[in-house]
Amino acid sequence: MIPSVIVPVTRHEILSAVASITIDNGSKISAFERELSEYIGCKYVLLTYSGRTALYLLLKSYGLKKGDEVIMPSYGCETVARLIMDMGYNLIFADVDKSTYNMSVDDLSERISDNTKAVIAIHMFGNPCDLDGIMEVAGDYNAVVIEDSAQTIGAEYNHKKTGTICDSGFFSFGTAKPMTTMNGGIIVSKDKEIMKKVKTIAEGFGSSNYQRLKILAKLTAYSFIKNPILYAPIYKFILNRRVTRRCTLEKESMDLDEFECAYTDMQAAIGMVQLSRLDRMNDDRIANADHLMKRLNGMGIIHLPEILDNAKPIFLRLPIRIEGTSVEMRDKLIQRMQKSGIDTPVAYPNVLPRFFNLSTGEYPNTEELVEQTITLPVHPLVKDGDIERMVNIIKGFMEDHS
Ligand SMILES: Cc1ncc(COP(=O)(O)O)c(C=O)c1O
Repeated sequence: MIPSVIVPVTRHEILSAVASITIDNGSKISAFERELSEYIGCKYVLLTYSGRTALYLLLKSYGLKKGDEVIMPSYGCETVARLIMDMGYNLIFADVDKSTYNMSVDDLSERISDNTKAVIAIHMFGNPCDLDGIMEVAGDYNAVVIEDSAQTIGAEYNHKKTGTICDSGFFSFGTAKPMTTMNGGIIVSKDKEIMKKVKTIAEGFGSSNYQRLKILAKLTAYSFIKNPILYAPIYKFILNRRVTRRCTLEKESMDLDEFECAYTDMQAAIGMVQLSRLDRMNDDRIANADHLMKRLNGMGIIHLPEILDNAKPIFLRLPIRIEGTSVEMRDKLIQRMQKSGIDTPVAYPNVLPRFFNLSTGEYPNTEELVEQTITLPVHPLVKDGDIERMVNIIKGFMEDHS
């Protein structure tokens, strides 16, 4: 079965981690930071325990106080919203553009106010958002723009790597990301002073031998499981977990102490090997997304994501919107895909303000995306035959429902 995302960690990478498990002097981390700084094209780079730790550190370093307003898109990652709320900020959502899945600049300009201190510009699915528009609106209110490039390492906007364009940015090396070290994040900033503050706050963060062993064991297990050969037998379990996680997140306040952990040298050793393969893996993603888009282009109710003229996406997954479909019909398509051995989840089933019981207005575009979108896998293990299978299932589905 083709998983929706993979954990592309090789045996060679696991071995390099085993060899580095006792190193705890930051030497691998420094080397990895140097390589990342060169790859991303940003002078100041800091590895963190996770993408959320990176955002946590950035928000603290910009001096946001409890009650300050932070704006993020209403479609996307529940955990980012949860973190912002748990840090005590007043979370406001802006609706997204139906064609890009990213924050709508028009809606942002309606919702921003003098109380807004930060805007989180998220590049969904590896497809860059309209940063020029977002920065212009935020600039009028002196709000800092933090670029959430968690899903998007390697993508470009205005010929620069995403993450580096706004005041500061961050990436994630979580398990469903273009490259992974089980967990991990990077902060990038042009602002030396902010980076100094980030480093001061992160100074006391550490990791234990137990933590390192746990990460290595989990990473090894994930790299085996998220593989077309072993995915089918555990698929039911994964589906179950997906549903329960999505439903319980709301109730779980985060333990903020969890964000005060450090990245490890062992992970940096894996990360360096992954980084050397990243462009090749991204090229496969881009080629698969391109192939799918060509084959699905012009299919009436199937809407493909729009790519901005000044953007070069990498596509972590390819979202497609089936216009006018009901949730039941969409789920039937997902089931047909499952039967044919392809995992095409909804990915983001929640209108975030509603999910968190925040009555902050209407989000019509997010409502539609949540009900009508499925995400197609485009990772390097997707082959031409899988693409043909997906296209044929979608064609058959449309014929049956026309
Ligand atoms: C858009 C986005 N932002 C932030 C995060 C958080 O990253 P992490 O899981 O490394 O904390 C994720 C992870 O799922 C994400 O998809």
